Amino acid sequence: MRELLERQVRRAGLQNLVVLSNRTPYVFHGEEGDAATATRAVSGLVTALEPIVMACGGTWVGWAGRTAEESRLGERVAVPAGRPAYVVREIILSREEYNRYYHGCANDCLWPLFHCFLEKAVFDHDSWQSYVRVNRKFAEAARREAGEGALIWVHDYHLALVPGMLRKAGYRGKIAYFCHIPFPPLEIFSALPWGKEILTGLLGSNLVAFHLPGYVENFLRVVEKLLGAEVSYVDGYVRWQKRKMHVRALPIGIDYQEFDELAREEETARRAAEIRRHVNTERLVLSVERLDYTKGIIEKLQGIEEFLARYPDYRGRVTFLQVAVPSRTEVQSYANLRSRVEEMVGRINGQYASGWHMPVWYMFNALDRRELVAHYRAADIALVTPLRDGLNLVAKEFVASRVAGDGVLVLSPFAGAAEQLKGSLLVNPYDRVDLAGKIKKALDMPVEEQKIRISILQQSVRRYDLKWWWRGVLSGLGWQAEAHPENAAGSGPLAAGEFIPKQRLDG
Ligand code: UDP
Ligand code: G6P
Repeated sequence: MRELLERQVRRAGLQNLVVLSNRTPYVFHGEEGDAATATRAVSGLVTALEPIVMACGGTWVGWAGRTAEESRLGERVAVPAGRPAYVVREIILSREEYNRYYHGCANDCLWPLFHCFLEKAVFDHDSWQSYVRVNRKFAEAARREAGEGALIWVHDYHLALVPGMLRKAGYRGKIAYFCHIPFPPLEIFSALPWGKEILTGLLGSNLVAFHLPGYVENFLRVVEKLLGAEVSYVDGYVRWQKRKMHVRALPIGIDYQEFDELAREEETARRAAEIRRHVNTERLVLSVERLDYTKGIIEKLQGIEEFLARYPDYRGRVTFLQVAVPSRTEVQSYANLRSRVEEMVGRINGQYASGWHMPVWYMFNALDRRELVAHYRAADIALVTPLRDGLNLVAKEFVASRVAGDGVLVLSPFAGAAEQLKGSLLVNPYDRVDLAGKIKKALDMPVEEQKIRISILQQSVRRYDLKWWWRGVLSGLGWQAEAHPENAAGSGPLAAGEFIPKQRLDG
């Protein structure tokens, strides 16, 4: 994988990669930026990007979790410790920026708005001013890191103004932007008082990419209506202020081979068996996600409660394991969500415990990669039921880890990944009766049907993997990158009937 990613980059002629995201893959603690004592950030963004940056080298500009009185540049740290592959250029946020740019604007306004939770979005003008200042700081840091032939690759809703700021400052190199969350329809986006500024910022890029064709369409419509720019829905571009920007749907893939190989290791099989022994019920149903209201954890617990009420025969025979990764714990609404989740888990267990068996097991922490894959292997069913999710990598990782070929993925259609994952069992996360029924259906599904479904899912996840995605980004920028024989779709336009309609990846 690593060699292929490197070759793709050499062929494209990319000299230097500068990645920008609010959060770096490392969270530094204490005074010094020390990679050896840093902890890992947990998100789909980090899972997807890090293998690429590890392979290509370059610089990752971002916030490593540290705040100070004064806003400033922090350390430049070679990572990973002991076998450095790239550099983290740390940006230290002041307390004011942390409260306003990160919480006030990114978490309390853009995150809910882009996920279409309009009623949760708070529009605070001071927070917006802070957002503008922090974006400028990121743009300046990126400019300093980028040399001749560089690609500045900006990620997510925290940094939407950066591409436009770079252009304004005279930067002429390539800029790509990737949005890891949904892009909302015009009716929702229009509520944002700073919508035009966000669009103008994004249009500084050569390539703006989203996970799904639906998000691309929303973006083009918003650009057309709010800026009056010329757009093409068929060829995916915007013409505006004498520049042409490409707009693409490129759903992130996973490093399939890595998950497959890890799942096959003897140590993983041993650990999976151990998990099953601990659980000690006939069946194990797994959920893994950050503790975020978009993930629909409360609604899922209601579905589990309904299942236990409706189907008493299953009580004592099934364990539901919920791994809830701590996220944005300083935000009041996230703290409230945690209390509600824990209260519900307690209530369900109080009502449906039989003997020593608790139906719902709950963990409030993150698993490392090996432990996560062992859980994917140990489970019979994955319940991935977000109310809204840009893509959802957990669903793909579960599929890739099913090396015995069985298992059931129960998936919300509101996860972007549902468009690709055709063999999954779709469920409406807002309907507790549907949730209960789909849990039962998954538990009763014959192994032959499970195997057919998993095989269809694995074909898709393997084909549209991380190499496919990275190649799509490079070719969207007008660079020819090396294809891989496994990724047939990487060698030219997608075939008719593929999951992304009307889209050519080359040229
Ligand atoms: N993850 C992890 N440990 C955990 C739970 C999740 O490392 O305990 C990783 C998981 O492998 C996945 C990412 O976190 O790659 C979550 O990505 P996803 O797209 O599902 O959701 P996001 O958190 O980005 O909204
Ligand atoms: C999502 C976003 C990422 C973000 C992550 C964790 O995956 O797309 O940009 O880093 O959530 O959120 P946090 O606020 O802790 O960085």
